[in-house]
Amino acid sequence: MLVEIFPNYEALSNRAYEIVATELRRKPNCVLGFATGSTPLGLYQRLVEGYQRGELDFAKVVTFNLDEYVGLPPSHPQSYHYFMWENLFKHININPSNVHIPNGMVDDIEFHCEWYEEQIRRAGGIDLQILGIGPNGHLAFNEPGSSLGSRTRIKTLSRATIQANARFFGSLEAVPRYAITMGIGTIMEARKLLLLASGKAKARAVRAMLEGPISAMVPATIVQLHRFAHVLLDAEAASEL
Ligand code: GLP
Repeated sequence: MLVEIFPNYEALSNRAYEIVATELRRKPNCVLGFATGSTPLGLYQRLVEGYQRGELDFAKVVTFNLDEYVGLPPSHPQSYHYFMWENLFKHININPSNVHIPNGMVDDIEFHCEWYEEQIRRAGGIDLQILGIGPNGHLAFNEPGSSLGSRTRIKTLSRATIQANARFFGSLEAVPRYAITMGIGTIMEARKLLLLASGKAKARAVRAMLEGPISAMVPATIVQLHRFAHVLLDAEAASEL
């Protein structure tokens, strides 16, 4: 595991950009795994700028997102579909048919999850998976207690996650109770992981992830077992190490 600590969020985002841009140049048809949340926004902004400067080409890139809320249509401003299109995809030359995000509106969720896993396999697997971390140590929506071998499936959001995400929805009641998420086993099959954490609110989860024992109660601890896990922290997120 490679851990790098930066003085602030800007420097962390610049480094994340370098890593993703290097992957894109190395393999123009690479398969990228994307995450949502506020943490990767600086990276996505830089990817848009890199594309606008003519440094990056997404024409052959294939993407898979980690997760999506159940019950939110893609047009809902808090859906992860909406988030990805607004913050990244609509600004770059990605082929929409190469974009994959779990669909929280399907009737048969189990079938959809199996289909999603199959799409990842057919694409040849994920080359580089971007990750954030929840304040409770979750990865994507793999909440504490998730099986470390899990695959894409529906998960009930924990009370802590509902509270942490209520700020986006205006009230606790408006936050969906379920999400479709790649499993921890799915995430671990990506060839490289790039995990970003910023801010004081992540410091305890970051310490548990990097210094604690591997445990399903802190799903992010599984990155300790990945061969190519690269963790970028700002000083606040690293403050309890
Ligand atoms: C959500 C997402 C996670 C993300 C987490 C942290 O719960 N499902 O993938 O890592 O939020 O979000 P933020 O970066 O806003 O702190």
